[in-house]
Amino acid sequence: MAHPLAHLIKTPQEIEKMRASGKLAADVLTMIEPYVVPGTSTEALNQRCHDYIIQHDAIPAPLNYRGFPKSICTSVNHVVCHGIPRSDKILKEGDIINIDVTVIKNGYHGDTSKMFTVGKISTQAERLLKISRECMYIGINLVKPGISLKTIGKAIDEYARTHHYSSVREYCGHGIGSQFHEEGLQVLHYDETSIPDIKLIEGLTFTIEPMINIGKRFTKTLNDDWTVVTKDRSLSAQWEHTLLCTKEGVEILTLRDGEIQPEYKS
Ligand code: MF3
Ligand code: CO
Ligand code: CO
Repeated sequence: MAHPLAHLIKTPQEIEKMRASGKLAADVLTMIEPYVVPGTSTEALNQRCHDYIIQHDAIPAPLNYRGFPKSICTSVNHVVCHGIPRSDKILKEGDIINIDVTVIKNGYHGDTSKMFTVGKISTQAERLLKISRECMYIGINLVKPGISLKTIGKAIDEYARTHHYSSVREYCGHGIGSQFHEEGLQVLHYDETSIPDIKLIEGLTFTIEPMINIGKRFTKTLNDDWTVVTKDRSLSAQWEHTLLCTKEGVEILTLRDGEIQPEYKS
């Protein structure tokens, strides 16, 4: 029988375009870093990212996506994901913020996010940022043809639990290409025995983007219909890369200049 995701395999030409989109999304995160300082509004960050993306012949995918009103997501402290940039949300010393950038270039998407620190942060927050990034890399370093998506989700969840954190279940990694979120390819960041077991194959492109909470895993969505927060208001952190499953293993399409892929395994 044909692989259930065979129709999502990218051609070499598509992969070239995904590399360009991934590189641009990564460059946006590098570009914005020096502006993430106390006193800046999340809207100012949105405007800079928006302008940079347009200047590089691309489109910010979140803008008007299912009604999302801005060009990036900015999720501060206990905001888990999908925070909406606002001119009255001013960053202050000690904040942690996830900036999630998705660009469309030549018809293909690149999707990546990382945590930034605003001035000096607590040792608690420091530890959350470190462990949540490791959660993402434990998933990434498992990627190769034949690996089950369940194995990846389980490894991420177990690593979070080992450190007494929790992995959010309501949002997952996703297939990505000409579509922002491809139907049929979901990368859960936890172990769910009831879903069909899918094995990766060479040529699939998808994200891994765990959201890790210091407290319990439960979330709620605010009245703006977008902003997702932890129910217990504990700090949350997320990291995301767009990946290609290669013959040998994995290529990180959104790796930033100077970012070193850690080698550790779960
Ligand atoms: N970038 C997010 C993801 O990783 C999706 C954001 S949807 C938006 O899948 F509408 F909020 F932009
Ligand atoms: Co994503
Ligand atoms: Co994203």
